Amino acid sequence: MCGIVGYVGNKACQDVILGSLERLEYRGYDSSGIASIDNDQLVLRRAVGKLSELKAKTQLEPVSGRIGIGHIRWATHGGVTEKNAHPHLVNGEVAIVHNGIIENYADLKKELIEKDFLFNSDTDSEVLAHLFARAFNEGLEPVAALRTVLKKIEGAFAFAAISKSHPETLLVARNASPLAIGFSDEMAIVASDATAMAHLTSRVTYLKDNDYAVITAKNCDIFDGNNELAKREIVQVKAAPILLDKAGFRHYMEKEIHEQPDAISHTISAMTDVSGNLTAGLDSSSLSQIKQIVLVAAGTSFYAAQIGRYWIERLAGIPVVCEIASEYHYRNPAVNGYTTAIVISQSGESIDSLMAMRHAKILGLETLGIVNVADSSIAREADRILPTRAGPEIGVASTKAFTAQLVVLICLAIALGKNNGRLDSSRANHLFQNLLKIPGAIGKSMKLFDQIRPIAHRLKNARSCLFLGRDVLFPLACEGALKLKELSYIHAEGFASGEMKHGPIALVEDGLPIVSFVSEDEMARKAVSNLKEAEARGGYIIVVGTQTAVDMIDFAVEKIIIPNCEPILAPIVGAIPVQILAYLTAFEKGTDIDQPRNLAKSVTVE
Ligand code: AGP
Repeated sequence: MCGIVGYVGNKACQDVILGSLERLEYRGYDSSGIASIDNDQLVLRRAVGKLSELKAKTQLEPVSGRIGIGHIRWATHGGVTEKNAHPHLVNGEVAIVHNGIIENYADLKKELIEKDFLFNSDTDSEVLAHLFARAFNEGLEPVAALRTVLKKIEGAFAFAAISKSHPETLLVARNASPLAIGFSDEMAIVASDATAMAHLTSRVTYLKDNDYAVITAKNCDIFDGNNELAKREIVQVKAAPILLDKAGFRHYMEKEIHEQPDAISHTISAMTDVSGNLTAGLDSSSLSQIKQIVLVAAGTSFYAAQIGRYWIERLAGIPVVCEIASEYHYRNPAVNGYTTAIVISQSGESIDSLMAMRHAKILGLETLGIVNVADSSIAREADRILPTRAGPEIGVASTKAFTAQLVVLICLAIALGKNNGRLDSSRANHLFQNLLKIPGAIGKSMKLFDQIRPIAHRLKNARSCLFLGRDVLFPLACEGALKLKELSYIHAEGFASGEMKHGPIALVEDGLPIVSFVSEDEMARKAVSNLKEAEARGGYIIVVGTQTAVDMIDFAVEKIIIPNCEPILAPIVGAIPVQILAYLTAFEKGTDIDQPRNLAKSVTVE
């Protein structure tokens, strides 16, 4: 994924670019770099590791030009080394930063090497620098150079380039990867998102796919894919200020877990009208048009989708399929009868989800986005938005965005069911009244930190861990496994409890931790039998549920008691121990909780 920045203006670029990169750190943190034209020379600083490494380097050796580009990397092609860090420089003439993947880079690299171009990195991106160097050596002006380079490359990209021969000019382009341009009187800035320029301006324009631009401090010419000058609207972006403050918590994740009562209350408000009636943000005729749904998402958002499917089918009787976003648009899905694609994404920038949404549009489906970042690509491109109001989520592990997504989905399920008559008013009202109690229940769940700490202490030595659940708690089990592995690097898998006997039970050996979510409803007795089978084979059984539910599992070694709630809403309350268990286990292991290895907050490469 990576984040890119470019600046041209009346200030020294170093602090501006570092400030922007700090706001883009959610996109990667393997390495970072900055290049500038300083006293007619292209200067470069790069460092492996988090942005703090680059900051330290630039403090010792500052860069003082008034034009520059910066990059924060999540490695795709080439290891995490300084030579693979961006910017890439060619002959001290041209520097580029790139987000995305140049899919035909191998062919281009071969062609350039045959013409004696020397490569210094293992990245796909470096071909861009060589293509620009070649274009400028041939005497091309910036616009012509850009067109020449764009004609050669295929794939997803947003890039920025600077050249010593045009020291006042930024050259940028995008296809599939996002790029925003910000303006004020004395400068222009480009970045992977508008938040990265919030310290300089709120006047922003977004490039569309295949757009490219030639930018100076006073002028910006944007061209579309047909090489015509394009007018792109300048909007006022209310970018949230960067939240550097952890409010006394040790990690953003810990803070974000605690923010969930508010995140859920705000999201419920967004799902109601001015009189407090549940509408899910859609009028009756829009709800009536939803006949069959495909829910598309990735990672944690996908598990929210799976829970949403249980809810929508049960409460509204509307058929739903869930699709992993990265699979959806490549497998020619049959859409006969499907009317609506709902894309769920915290960031609104996951490229898999964005591409899937575009594919759904091509297939003629109405698109709804359940998105947390209001000015994100998915939010801008979806036909309609059902917002989650979780506020900025900084920790890489999704917590409050997940529970807020669940709130939107349960509201949608109730609204659809009430609208089509599957749910009578009193049941709909009963469910909604119970939903209103969830922020309080989640507030009480914060006590679980103390209860779960000793379990996490034991879990930190595990090599593997299973998570089980039935019905609405099955996707939560999968989310539990994802959270544990991404934060603590312990291998974990989530299974439907009833599936254990079909294979996974072979994994059970003495001491294998098995976290099982149990409910009080008709599923309870079956879950007990499934767990008994695992216990008989030596599993270390940890149950999570309400007091009544866990009391049924008298053989469990550990019991995590969640506050009482309507059984169908249990995944929302049950998400809290999932998050706390993963957080505390990672804390015990000493891993990097807010920025776990190999991950990034927003995944903008396929
Ligand atoms: C969640 O903890 C993960 N870091 C990840 O699975 C995430 O949910 C996924 O990448 C989807 O992101 P999105 O919701 O921003 O599209």
